[in-house]
Amino acid sequence: MRARASGRGRVVESHRIARSAFASALAFAALAVAWSVRDDSRFGNDPWLKHDVQYCGDSNTASSPAGEGSASACGAAFGHNATEDWFIWLTEGARMLRTSLCDLLGIDHPIIQAGMGPFGSGAELAAAVSNAGAIGTLGGAARPVEGLRQQLVALGELTDRPFIVNFTQPWLQQNPEAFDVALEAGPRVISLALGDPGELVNRAHDAGVLFVQQVHTVGQANLAAERGVDVVVAQGTEAGGFTGTVAMAALVPQVVDAISPIPVVAAGGIADGRGLAAALALGAQGVNVGTRFLASVEASVAEPWKKAIVAAKSEDAVKVAVWDDIFPKPGGAAFDVVPRALLTPFVEKWQHRPVEAAKEAEQIQGEIWAGIQTERMEEFVPFTGQTAGLIDDILPAAEIVLRMIREADESLQRVRDLT
Ligand SMILES: Cc1cc2nc3c(=O)[nH]c(=O)nc-3n(C[C@H](O)[C@H](O)[C@H](O)COP(=O)(O)O)c2cc1C
Repeated sequence: MRARASGRGRVVESHRIARSAFASALAFAALAVAWSVRDDSRFGNDPWLKHDVQYCGDSNTASSPAGEGSASACGAAFGHNATEDWFIWLTEGARMLRTSLCDLLGIDHPIIQAGMGPFGSGAELAAAVSNAGAIGTLGGAARPVEGLRQQLVALGELTDRPFIVNFTQPWLQQNPEAFDVALEAGPRVISLALGDPGELVNRAHDAGVLFVQQVHTVGQANLAAERGVDVVVAQGTEAGGFTGTVAMAALVPQVVDAISPIPVVAAGGIADGRGLAAALALGAQGVNVGTRFLASVEASVAEPWKKAIVAAKSEDAVKVAVWDDIFPKPGGAAFDVVPRALLTPFVEKWQHRPVEAAKEAEQIQGEIWAGIQTERMEEFVPFTGQTAGLIDDILPAAEIVLRMIREADESLQRVRDLT
């Protein structure tokens, strides 16, 4: 076929070969440097080289998505033509987005993979995200303590990078020992959602662990600041999982103004680099991303849920107010939130029948718990955010991180070019 190619075809083909050869040469150069200099700090001025080394050079670590230390294996890990694209981008002067959150958490990229309880946010996903230079979260809510222990051991084997263990306040009220189990594993951070952290902040600090609190209103952010938290996640109503009523773009700048200089992280409605760039422009120091990572290769939810996210439009992710009738809030320190989830026949059946749902709550709770335990939550209340409409593919978590950084860099450049 090549012998019969036209003149223009031959030129294009020879450019392609030259570019691949160039990419391969760079890959091998990166590998050679990685081999001779294993100290990460040596790559401090060239984060992208550091990443290429991490993904394409660490052939013998379980955390390497490539699995083999070659440029082609690296390409396979990132999908179609990724190696070539990656190295071409590298040579085009990519910049790094570094914020105070990166320094505080000891990470390269200001992206937190959100805690999502037992839905997807297990050890494999958290490790993949942390190994990609962002920070992964092991979901501790709705996970039996023994299961949490096992996941923490697995996470320790998959990464030596910083990670977060996340809980919800109602879950910790019922399972207080889970907090100590998490602290013993030595996470960089404990994060909490859905209620007043109270004394938990001091307990984490006494163990040398940072504390991140998720909020939905300015009042909750002020409370978190009083408690002494290190970072506040301001979550907009667009988010998957339990959400309030205020949109991310309205909430984040207000929280920034209210609790400065405590770093604020934006959550809800962010699935790509444009969202990250917007969050930074609103004053956030990073983003907390859930739904995008649910549709990742490593997320431990069933394939039908991931495919449903890819197929869904934003308006298919609805607030499920009837949840409160099925699972009445424990009261006390719990925030006023209800889940956002994909509209399923189950949600449709109960959504407008709160009185009957309350009467049959015990039975419905049983059905939902059985669905969680058998990994069929997508048939019941599959927590998912409005970014479902933005998500067209199921990707390796590392690629999600790196695409976000690259797109954010491009978005910020586009905005700079306007001035
Ligand atoms: C399936 C799912 C489960 C979630 N469970 C939790 C949880 O256990 N703890 C928590 O802090 N947040 C939880 N969240 C909310 C996330 O932390 C995060 O704020 C949210 O996903 C961000 O919005 P996004 O989905 O638009 O990215 C969950 C979100 C989803 C999608």
